[in-house]
Amino acid sequence: MSAHSPVLLFDSGVGGLTVLDALRRVRPEVPVIYAADLAGLPYGAKSEAEIAARVCGLLGRMAERWHPRLVCIACNTASTIALGMVREVLEIPVVGTVPAIKPAAALTRTGVIGLLGTEATIRQAYVDKLEEAFAARRTLLRHPAPGLVGAAEAKLRGHAVDPAAIAAATAGLREQAGGDRIDTLVLACTHFPLLRDELQAAFGAATRLVDGAEGIARRIAHLVEGQPMARAEPDRAVTTGGLEDLTGLAPAFAARGIERLDRF
Ligand code: SIN
Repeated sequence: MSAHSPVLLFDSGVGGLTVLDALRRVRPEVPVIYAADLAGLPYGAKSEAEIAARVCGLLGRMAERWHPRLVCIACNTASTIALGMVREVLEIPVVGTVPAIKPAAALTRTGVIGLLGTEATIRQAYVDKLEEAFAARRTLLRHPAPGLVGAAEAKLRGHAVDPAAIAAATAGLREQAGGDRIDTLVLACTHFPLLRDELQAAFGAATRLVDGAEGIARRIAHLVEGQPMARAEPDRAVTTGGLEDLTGLAPAFAARGIERLDRF
């Protein structure tokens, strides 16, 4: 590892930018390569085996090419399925993104927590374990909202988000709650905080939205504490898909100081 070694932030798409934003707030000097597996997006509709093979394979090749000091899987679906396997493959620290059930359980007053994620995330045993460990005495209502991934990607490409579509995509969760009030909502997909305003409008101002980005950024900051840090080149974003997929996102990356966009 050298002072120039980047942190590799990996996601299926733009969701990891919510982790990048949080990391920038605590450690702006950390060199970053942002890798979006746009050729594989969306992960939420894929099988566990496919996601695990894809994420392990890509991260293995990316680590060989860029020698990152640390990898962050900034994607809940990939983390809940493949984090353990990636840790076995790579010889550097790997930080995952897991649903923020623990903080939500501490924050709730009504005892009713909602959890929005992809179909793949909400059915994971990993989520069962978090529920058992931290929310056994709470009611945790899970709801798949895969449509929000596309809405977040579109928003960052400059397209308007239809509030009615967000309300419809999450209505099932409010229906599950019945007369109970969800006062805490776990955004268990890194894409979803990009729709924070729209989700807040759908659930109402009294519902607190919780995501894991700040915690992940603090974990990364802790792991790189004391390491020499210098940028040899500007941060960049890479895609596994066509470069044209990434150029539509150029303003979103530029807003985060990333001007260089490449294919992996
Ligand atoms: C997706 O690619 O379906 C989104 C993955 C996630 O952040 O959970």
